[in-house]
Amino acid sequence: MGLFEEPRATILLRPEVLDTDYIPDVLPHREAQMKEIASAISYALDTGHSSNIFVVGPPGTGKTASVRYILRELSSYSPLTFQTYINCWVYRTRYSIISFLAKELRIPVPRRGVAPDEAYDRIFARLNDSRGAVIVLDEVDRLSRESTDVLYDFSRLHEFLEVPTVIITIANSESFVYRLDPRIYSTLFSRKVEFSPYTVPQLKDILRERAKIALAEGTYDENVIGLCAAIGWKRGGDARAAISCLYEAAVLAEREGADRITPEHVRRVEGLIKSSRHESVDPKFIPIVEILRERGELTVKELYEEYVRRADKITLRAFRNYIKELESLGVVETRRLNVRGYVRAVRLRE
Ligand SMILES: Nc1ncnc2c1ncn2[C@@H]1O[C@H](COP(=O)(O)OP(=O)(O)OP(=O)(O)O)[C@@H](O)[C@H]1O
Ligand SMILES: [Mg+2]
Repeated sequence: MGLFEEPRATILLRPEVLDTDYIPDVLPHREAQMKEIASAISYALDTGHSSNIFVVGPPGTGKTASVRYILRELSSYSPLTFQTYINCWVYRTRYSIISFLAKELRIPVPRRGVAPDEAYDRIFARLNDSRGAVIVLDEVDRLSRESTDVLYDFSRLHEFLEVPTVIITIANSESFVYRLDPRIYSTLFSRKVEFSPYTVPQLKDILRERAKIALAEGTYDENVIGLCAAIGWKRGGDARAAISCLYEAAVLAEREGADRITPEHVRRVEGLIKSSRHESVDPKFIPIVEILRERGELTVKELYEEYVRRADKITLRAFRNYIKELESLGVVETRRLNVRGYVRAVRLRE
């Protein structure tokens, strides 16, 4: 075997299927919730009446996956409907959300920026050319406290548009809505679709579906599935934890040259599993996300200098480790800018 060749995968045939961003073709045990969201959308598009939905549930209960699945279906069912997905953990301010929307609608935004009112006028004009608009605000509870005014803007969107709108907000809990203006609450958050923690049998069904596609036949059994499901259940009925567990166990088994995954492999990786996507995202990383959001792609050095200015005087070496960590969490991506690979550029992952 050549020096750079990887040994051939024997267990994990399609690792991307166990990625947390992967949207499977079937989402067991979420049929009712997906149907409810989809019918609210088709009702709005068919009747012209706007309606909004608040999707709420603990981490790993399939909220993002279900809504993205619906958007995917919608794009083939109604291609003239404008749809967009905004993660408010990444776009945390009113300004960044407006700029993002403008970009999605291919509205040129001058470098000096535009006043929100002016940007909104152009956004409304574009939206009125579509059949309707479906806008998803995921992790809406992560908006910074000063930025909830963007929710007020969204709650009034239907007043300025001739086409129907559906705003889908997603959050882990309801508690943050209590500090919002009652008018925002009643328009955006009063219709709730709840995602409850998965039970062990439900997690097993989810794991079996994923394992069937991702793993080679005969490399896992019901004990492995059951153990991963139990771990996901212990973490609060979290499918992300259950799936990551299966993934890590498969990687470990493969690395050790085993021909199958055993419960022992699962037990050994249990400690590595993080329940929530952001559980491990330290607040010290937030300025990095903010700088990249404002300035787009930067070299590590430029980003570092700005970080030191805004946040904390750490060493470049420590900062490189921050970037590595954010990359492994899937928040940023990096690429080499020169052949030797000394200069790397960093940007937010879309
Ligand atoms: N019913 C399901 N069938 C198949 N896979 C699922 C199901 N529910 C969740 N998953 C998978 O579990 C992982 C976590 O799901 P998702 O990202 O939708 O969780 P979430 O509810 O948005 O969590 P969070 O609140 O932390 O954002 C994803 O990989 C997703 O594909
Ligand atoms: Mg989510």
